[in-house]
Amino acid sequence: MNDAEKLRRELEEEIQSASSPDDFERIRVKYFGKKGLVTLALKSLKELPLKERKRVGAQLNALKKEYERELKKKREGARARYSAKKWDYTFPGRVSEKGGFHPLSFVELRIREIFSSLGFKFVDGPYIETDYYNFEALNVPPHHPAREMHDTFYVKGHGSILLRTHTSPVQIRTMEKMKPPIRVGHIGRVFRVDPFDASHAPAFTQFEGLYVDKGVTFKDLKGTIMHFIEELFGKGTAVKFLPTYFPFTEPSAEVYMRWKGEWMEILGCGMVHPRVLKNVGIDPEEYTGFAFGMGVERIAMIKYGIKDIRLFTENNLKFLKQFPL
Ligand code: PHE
Repeated sequence: MNDAEKLRRELEEEIQSASSPDDFERIRVKYFGKKGLVTLALKSLKELPLKERKRVGAQLNALKKEYERELKKKREGARARYSAKKWDYTFPGRVSEKGGFHPLSFVELRIREIFSSLGFKFVDGPYIETDYYNFEALNVPPHHPAREMHDTFYVKGHGSILLRTHTSPVQIRTMEKMKPPIRVGHIGRVFRVDPFDASHAPAFTQFEGLYVDKGVTFKDLKGTIMHFIEELFGKGTAVKFLPTYFPFTEPSAEVYMRWKGEWMEILGCGMVHPRVLKNVGIDPEEYTGFAFGMGVERIAMIKYGIKDIRLFTENNLKFLKQFPL
């Protein structure tokens, strides 16, 4: 078998397995382009002995005649088929992968929905705070354990600048700007020097609520919290308020709910401390208010039965795909 016969065989094999317009164009260039195999073979004919030159030359020319234009035609044909396919509305649909919400986003959206319908406005607040907003204005005394280095991330070289340890500084920032009646919610990240294990994370999400007006009582706080829990976890969910201590509320309570046979602590709350109101120039004789704060991961963990807080940040698709839209 001489070169021309070999080229024909290879060319025909390649055409057999081609299908797209690009396939045919690639083959055409490979064999008949300026540096194509057939083109080069024709150019080097003169190196052959005269007798062979004639025979091989004829074969190569035949090959060229037969296929060079044919490949262009095949390319056009393939192109037409491809674009016809593109517009074939009877073609069976292919299912593309659907996105979903992160479980924390789900809970966040529900929280926003429930509290917006109660007239709360959602506001923003900075993650990098000063000692004043994170602690002092919230009536956290200088030697309170929460100020110790092991709880708080401080910005090196700037003693009073820190990563907020809770969303409560948003209470202060809001009350500085707004006059009562105030009804605001805030959801965002908080940071604590904590280990990263199944139930702790150095960064997590909190939801803060604040309501200040004339005549706001503990009854309003209780009703609001109960309503929230029932909306999120179902009517008739048992809830209990136990007394506790927060420097910025008085009285203060931690709230537990009954879930799958167990009492789960889900939030801290209380009546805004008169000193906190004074710090922002609101007269505690005229106004009262309540505030509460809760961990959004914790709510999601209870709601969806998630056992490890690290799952929220691992971006494991097997986990995330369990929360389709
Ligand atoms: N800031 C408190 C915490 O992080 C929660 C809280 C908020 C308690 C508002 C009372 C009022 O634990």
